[in-house]
Amino acid sequence: MIDLRSDTVTQPTQQMREAMLAAPVGDDVYAEDPTVNELEQRVAELLGHEAGLFCASGSMCNMLGVRLLVEPGQEVVCEVQAHIARAEMGGHAAAHGLTMRTFPSTRGRLEPAEVAKIISPSAGPYLVSTAAVAVENTHNFGGGTIQPFDELTAVAELCREHGIGYHLDGARLWNAHIATGVALEAYGRLFDTVSVCFSKGLGAPVGSVLVSTADNIARARVMRKRLGGGWRQAGVLAAACVYALDHHVERLADDHAAAQIFAEAVAGSVPTAVDPDNVETNIVVIETGTTPAAPIATAAEERGVKVSALGPFMIRAVTHLDVTADDCEWAGQLVGKLLAE
Ligand SMILES: Cc1ncc(COP(=O)(O)O)c(C=O)c1O
Repeated sequence: MIDLRSDTVTQPTQQMREAMLAAPVGDDVYAEDPTVNELEQRVAELLGHEAGLFCASGSMCNMLGVRLLVEPGQEVVCEVQAHIARAEMGGHAAAHGLTMRTFPSTRGRLEPAEVAKIISPSAGPYLVSTAAVAVENTHNFGGGTIQPFDELTAVAELCREHGIGYHLDGARLWNAHIATGVALEAYGRLFDTVSVCFSKGLGAPVGSVLVSTADNIARARVMRKRLGGGWRQAGVLAAACVYALDHHVERLADDHAAAQIFAEAVAGSVPTAVDPDNVETNIVVIETGTTPAAPIATAAEERGVKVSALGPFMIRAVTHLDVTADDCEWAGQLVGKLLAE
């Protein structure tokens, strides 16, 4: 089976499992786990921030990162297909009392003009006050879209001008970094809070890190425990993330090349389904036109390829550590053929 539903489906490699086995550990609620401390410090430094907090998931890091910037009753502004708005189960509202206002865009692209139009900082007693803007880079449902650095910078300036916070959902920031060559630190320094994931393209079984100032991270540590996210000998998991940092970042270029191959193979049968020029990283979004997506996904699975039907007429395929370029070519030809039938 070639599983292209997500880059979260990977199996930890043997070497990663050995690193986990060998990890020195301690009680992380006492901040005494040396492997967790090493990971938090390394990620904070890489992203140009003072401190980091290791969490179970990207969703938890996003919830904490946004909550550091937004008080209950205030709003965070983000794109309409943002993971924080669509796929975090309303956690930001349910647990932290925040509202969200969204702007539409093409392929999840950050639109500084749209952001400028809808923010309402310090709106007084008449409107909900915007306390932060959140950006996703790369953008998942947009199709692995890379946010252009100048647009990220323009919105950073807008946020600074209006005294509002700026959060980055960088679950796949590693992919943007490898595709563009922009330093992780350059991305990181634009934002007040940044969340990065190890359980996506980097192939770790669990784990995300939130970075910010030391004061913010001390607050986030309290909030994490309040959410039930305090953990003990978590170094076993952090070791997988340290291993991934050392061994799985550069190779993301292979995933990007495989996604291109997949997209070209689909477009070879149905050119309107996907434009390979729009495939910037490891995610391929296919528009099925008038053909319903779910039966195509089912038919593909029956022939050994799993893809996600993410909308009634939209299929998503994601390349990762556990698939080869040849797998992707074959899978792309199959999906293209099914679409053309
Ligand atoms: C862009 C983005 N942000 C955040 C998350 C949340 O990560 P987790 O599944 O670890 O909560 C995901 C998960 O796929 C994602 O794609």
